[in-house]
Amino acid sequence: MPLDIPPHQIHVWHLGTEGLLTPYLRSLGKKLNSPQELATSKRFLTKDRQESYLLARTLLRTVLSKYVNISPLSWTFRTNENGKPEIDFPKMYRFLRFSLTHTNGFIACAVATDREIGIDAEAISRIEEIDKIADYSFAPAEARALRTLPPELRQRRFFELWTLKEAYLKARGVGLSLPLEKIFFNRDEAEMEYTLDASIDDPRNWRFFLLQPTVRHLAAVALPYDGHVKQHAQMELLVMPFEDVIHTRIGTSPAAQVCGEYWGVQCKGQYKARH
Ligand SMILES: CC(C)(COP(=O)(O)OP(=O)(O)OC[C@H]1O[C@@H](n2cnc3c(N)ncnc32)[C@H](O)[C@@H]1OP(=O)(O)O)[C@@H](O)C(=O)NCCC(=O)NCCS
Repeated sequence: MPLDIPPHQIHVWHLGTEGLLTPYLRSLGKKLNSPQELATSKRFLTKDRQESYLLARTLLRTVLSKYVNISPLSWTFRTNENGKPEIDFPKMYRFLRFSLTHTNGFIACAVATDREIGIDAEAISRIEEIDKIADYSFAPAEARALRTLPPELRQRRFFELWTLKEAYLKARGVGLSLPLEKIFFNRDEAEMEYTLDASIDDPRNWRFFLLQPTVRHLAAVALPYDGHVKQHAQMELLVMPFEDVIHTRIGTSPAAQVCGEYWGVQCKGQYKARH
């Protein structure tokens, strides 16, 4: 039975990849991807990154095949002018929207229906010149707020802001063509909120979720919240580990069930628009 994904749900499939690149997965990465994907993997400089790219594509194909009856190998993808991938074939399944992220030691894929979605994950690591990067990449008020934090919190907040903005850009599919300071996130003890400059978007149309899928990774999900899902009071974010897919052997397993909310993942909260 294909897995159901109602309009008010977003499914996030995730996988910590450290120590996972076994010979079995390496061969799968080669078997389940197209010649074009194999060629694209070569653009990554290290073997680890190449394999991680292929594993991400393998899992994307496998996950999509959980929702409809089509083999993982049969999907073809196309990209928009800014590189955002989407389903090309079969046309009838283009209602499935996805966003993919792969970073050092971690891969995730977010799936929704008939709605754009963006996910970004980063490994929380020590960054030199954090203030300089924040001044360059964030809104002035965000960079100022960052400076007021103690060092251990500052590092984390930096990655929260980074993943939130990236997730938004990825949902919009516009790459870095949008000025990043025009989407502004504010977080204090009491609440989290965002503001979007009206020149780039309608502020009330978005939801943001922040997740901590592993001890050293943060992920953010962005999705437009409009049209057919308005009747639902709440969006549901279901988070599922990819390990299931791997253990049951990619491509041959029957569709798994939804594994439950926030399994092994801390949901750090939902950002709401400031009115
Ligand atoms: C490419 C970009 C979409 C994200 O890149 P990233 O964070 O380095 O990498 P991620 O692993 O999270 O995402 C890459 C995936 O996003 C998808 N993607 C690529 N271009 C995309 C676009 N325009 N829109 C949505 N998704 C896109 C692809 O699936 C890609 O994976 P693939 O090449 O294996 O198919 C883009 O936003 C970028 O270049 N960012 C640079 C970083 C930056 O300066 N960020 C500022 C944040 S404050």
